[in-house]
Amino acid sequence: MSNLDLVIRGGEVVTASDRAHADVAVRNGKIVAVGIDLPRGKEEIDATGLLVMPGGIDSHVHLDQPSGDGAIMADGFETGTRSAIVGGNTTVIPFALQARGSSLRDAVAEYHAKADGQSYCDYGFHMILTDPTPSVLGQELPALVAKGYTSVKVFMTYDDMVLNDRELLEVFDAAGECGALVMVHCEGYDAIRYMTEKLEKADKIAPYYHAVSRPESVEREAAHRAISHAELTGVPIMIVHVSGREAMEQIRWARNRGLKIMGETCTQYISLTADDLKGLNMDDSGSKYVCSPPPRDPESWAAIWSGIQTGVFQTFSSDHCPFYFEGEYGKTSPKARTGFRWVPNGIPGVAVRMPLLWSEGVEKGRISANEFVALTSSNHARIYGLGNKGSIAPGYDADITLWDHKRKVTITQSLMEHGSDYTPWEGVEVTGWPAMTILRGRVVMRDGEVLETKAMGAFLPRELSSEARRMHGGPVAA
Ligand code: URP
Ligand code: ZN
Ligand code: ZN
Repeated sequence: MSNLDLVIRGGEVVTASDRAHADVAVRNGKIVAVGIDLPRGKEEIDATGLLVMPGGIDSHVHLDQPSGDGAIMADGFETGTRSAIVGGNTTVIPFALQARGSSLRDAVAEYHAKADGQSYCDYGFHMILTDPTPSVLGQELPALVAKGYTSVKVFMTYDDMVLNDRELLEVFDAAGECGALVMVHCEGYDAIRYMTEKLEKADKIAPYYHAVSRPESVEREAAHRAISHAELTGVPIMIVHVSGREAMEQIRWARNRGLKIMGETCTQYISLTADDLKGLNMDDSGSKYVCSPPPRDPESWAAIWSGIQTGVFQTFSSDHCPFYFEGEYGKTSPKARTGFRWVPNGIPGVAVRMPLLWSEGVEKGRISANEFVALTSSNHARIYGLGNKGSIAPGYDADITLWDHKRKVTITQSLMEHGSDYTPWEGVEVTGWPAMTILRGRVVMRDGEVLETKAMGAFLPRELSSEARRMHGGPVAA
């Protein structure tokens, strides 16, 4: 008997760079060999007809995150990560939010308490900085970065989170000093407020007007401003959840000038439109699609695809930000019915990110299977400092998705395993679906069935972003 715990046999291994028929051997949660005719393992999985890919890493999800207006998220770690593994993911990176007036350290400690023993997959934390005081930037941030919380998100909108330009510059500078990667939510606060008030005065309060209040120009202006601040401070940034051509072209422009700007886009920006927010005849059902930035139109989808194909976007995430549709805290609560301004922003999508990208991308010939792996896993690992994850090679964690690229599935709420009471993609047909999710050598999901306990996931302290360090001109090797 060999000393291998698991051998995955007969599949086609796909990484960000290679594609070959090979077997994969696992010992103690690590990949120890990729080869042909490997010895038998204690457990064998027949992957004939399946693709053997690195487990998905979704570096942009929100779980159990408090919001200023009191809305309660539909997912904590338990349901959110359950949904993640059903969708072929083995790692998620949600956000520990600093409330104004509170310490960043406390935010991280509180978030650990929420996650501990509750996660079906591995996880790290980004931090959200809302109160960049001198002690937060000078002491807490560097100390937390050194402990493995190596990225921060900042917002250019939302009453309870917005930073002004001076504060953004200070955060960029401080992050540059300690090597943290800054993720920026680019939408301009004043323009949104102006548009919202104008629409409200005209009694245009249905969910659809959420999209009207935040047109692409609002995102473009903020993206340009963030890029200018990054240039001034010489710090690399990641512009997250880019929704369409305008902001995408800003990133392309910046990169052509040699600036260190990375880009992320998300499932909703290749599959939903602002018209979805109209619901049935401008009714409340449009709120199911309210997220920020809002989805645009099929022309924007084409622009996003060109950004994906030409490397403007390194990561494809879900921005899973789950709320209920019904109920006291839902998108149709009495408060939310008083106008789009009060509809909780965000949609659930961690389970459909990989199937929708495969279906729209690989199946339709827009990207290769290798690019799919880079966009859903390897680039997230590299950019967010998860050195042991995101590939299939000896030494890597045995985080693997067995992908059934021929399976046709109609997306429906009952498959999602998330806490929300709906999915925005109800009834959408996809080709390509995860048959099995393997976390550190253990099968955690088979054919939609969750097989391990919620204590399986481990917290991952992360290294500094090798991509940010490369772009910043510093040493890349740890
Ligand atoms: O609408 C969204 N995406 N809300 C989530 C928070 C964010 O900005 O990522
Ligand atoms: Zn955001
Ligand atoms: Zn988000």
